Amino acid sequence: QECGDGCFAAPPRRGRGPGAAMAAPVPDAAAVRARAPVRDAASASSAGPWSLLHLHLDLRVSFAAAGAGRLQGRARLELRCERDGAGGAELRLDAHPALAVSRAALLPPPGGPGDAAGQTLPVESRPFASYGSALHITLPQAPRAGQLLTLVIDYEAGEGPGVCWLSPEQTAGKQKPYMYTQGQAVLNRSFFPCFDTPSVKFTYSATVKVPEGFTAVMSATSWEKQKDNTFVFKMSQPIPSYLIALVVGDIVSADVGPRSRVWAEPCLIEAAKKEYDGVIEEFLVVGEKLFGPYVWGRYDILFMPPSFPFGGMENPCLTFVTPCLLAGDRSLADVIIHEISHSWFGNLVTNASWGEFWLNEGFTMYAQRRISTEVYGLPYTCLEAATGRALLRQHMDATGEDHPLNKLRVVIEPGINPDDTYNETPYEKGYCFVSYLAHLVGNQSKFDAFLQAYVNRFKFQSITADDTLGFFLEYFPELKEKGVDSIPGFEFDRWLNTPGWPPYLPDLSPGQQLMRPAEELAELWAADSLNMEAIEAVDIMGWRTYQLVYFLDQILQKSPLPEGNVKRLSKMYPKISKAQNAELRLRWCQIVLKNNLEAEYSKVKDFLHSQGKQKYTLPLYRAMWGGSEAARALAMETFSATAPQLHVNVQNYVKKILGLAEA
Ligand code: BES
Ligand code: ZN
Repeated sequence: QECGDGCFAAPPRRGRGPGAAMAAPVPDAAAVRARAPVRDAASASSAGPWSLLHLHLDLRVSFAAAGAGRLQGRARLELRCERDGAGGAELRLDAHPALAVSRAALLPPPGGPGDAAGQTLPVESRPFASYGSALHITLPQAPRAGQLLTLVIDYEAGEGPGVCWLSPEQTAGKQKPYMYTQGQAVLNRSFFPCFDTPSVKFTYSATVKVPEGFTAVMSATSWEKQKDNTFVFKMSQPIPSYLIALVVGDIVSADVGPRSRVWAEPCLIEAAKKEYDGVIEEFLVVGEKLFGPYVWGRYDILFMPPSFPFGGMENPCLTFVTPCLLAGDRSLADVIIHEISHSWFGNLVTNASWGEFWLNEGFTMYAQRRISTEVYGLPYTCLEAATGRALLRQHMDATGEDHPLNKLRVVIEPGINPDDTYNETPYEKGYCFVSYLAHLVGNQSKFDAFLQAYVNRFKFQSITADDTLGFFLEYFPELKEKGVDSIPGFEFDRWLNTPGWPPYLPDLSPGQQLMRPAEELAELWAADSLNMEAIEAVDIMGWRTYQLVYFLDQILQKSPLPEGNVKRLSKMYPKISKAQNAELRLRWCQIVLKNNLEAEYSKVKDFLHSQGKQKYTLPLYRAMWGGSEAARALAMETFSATAPQLHVNVQNYVKKILGLAEA
């Protein structure tokens, strides 16, 4: 059974979506070096010779009485072979031991002759890595270039890391179960079989049948409810597999802007609407002004249950966020601006492999701070960036600057789980490198224009740092001429391939007016004998959250403080020590642990019981494990009580910290 040329029309692969407005002359696309296909060591698939034109998922979700539910699926892959004979008669997809495949088949061309059920193909799952397996499918014969194939795979997704099942107790409302998927980096291979590599982009659609009383949402450009509790989704722009996401739960929505709504469990929807009503559109408009058209149609935000392991996840059209963002005062909107920034950097221009993750996150941090500067001004943005720099400092102190993960381009060897390489370097060192490029240009609006041209040049593509930097030098020929890529100490190659503290740091001094008072106050609190008069003269009641965060970072850096100081600080500032804001709670808990303030250990416990964000959870377990006997006991006690609520990846990282699993 062979599907001949032109069975059905194949859509064009590249360059769809509205064109970005051009602010500066752009180098001829042909002048930009042609890219070699990228090998992704984290994918078991034979994606190379294929284009995935479209993926359709037919899903049925049901909830068991307790614990895990069931996800039964059929994936239909519409493929075009791009190279003769490549890969022989075998096609390999990424999958996972938790994905039970019952059948693979080759469908006849639509409308053509042949059995509609298709021709069953031999299929075998083979080990690949700790985080996935390889699904070998034997085709009737080696395909030829240009040939179109439609494969269907019937499967059931079990207890894999990509599909999370929550019991009613693990939700905010505590009434109904909930399921969500998290794809980045390599988890979606336990949700559906695919080319699970960011180097491959495709459009997708899905139908999802859910039980009565539940709603399904996905990262898709269109959403429609049909009869029988079946939801239909279409993503009309090509995206990588990691951006496909699904939630099924008792969720409702409320409008917060002309193209935005918030989704949350009914008990959170009022708070969610209040937090972001009328503010999202401005972020989008500023983003469009800076980086070009927003191509995704809607921008909605879904507030996840407390165990969601990230602050935010940029699933296109529908950002997933932690409910910790519901601070009541919009103070954590930087996370939303960050995820919106991925609409251009990450979702439109995508890292071709996880070793180039800084292209997603470093450019996004830069874009986030550009938007923030336009909306909130430079001083505030520099203050926020200073707290980011403190995170990078903490990370590099903990790992040693020379750690191989402290370079922008990470070598991910076969067998290494890309998720295990996650750290602050791609974010904050990446931010420094992009800031350095802007510094080389020396003119903000010229650099903004470059970013817009960059997005326009590489939109809907997956690229490497060589593409980015090649384009930069083509765009600014006078800089290329000057050899800015090889200035001693600042070589582009050094930035990418040498671990260590960034050789260039952007000037954050415009934030001094906000940072200075916090630094001075921290000095006062670190003194051996406290100058209470000077301390009481400082009124922190009017400080913004990030000023307090910055202050606490300073205190943490100086900790342990002289005996008794933290206790007094706690008493003096209930705004800090009794804060509900998650960023403040994290820092306060870190201070409590570093100063061995046993009287407030319950705050660490409460915070870890209240949410499961990885970036909050791991630093606290590290601090507890590195602390006193009592702190270690607290770690064990807290982990045994909360482990079932944590995302399985987070669980495993905590186990490593506590020596409960092999490192
Ligand atoms: N894409 C990331 C989250 C992510 C990274 C998930 C790697 C899985 C693997 C997201 O955009 C992110 O960076 N979130 C941050 C937001 C912060 C930098 C403002 C977070 O969750 O803390
Ligand atoms: Zn990000």
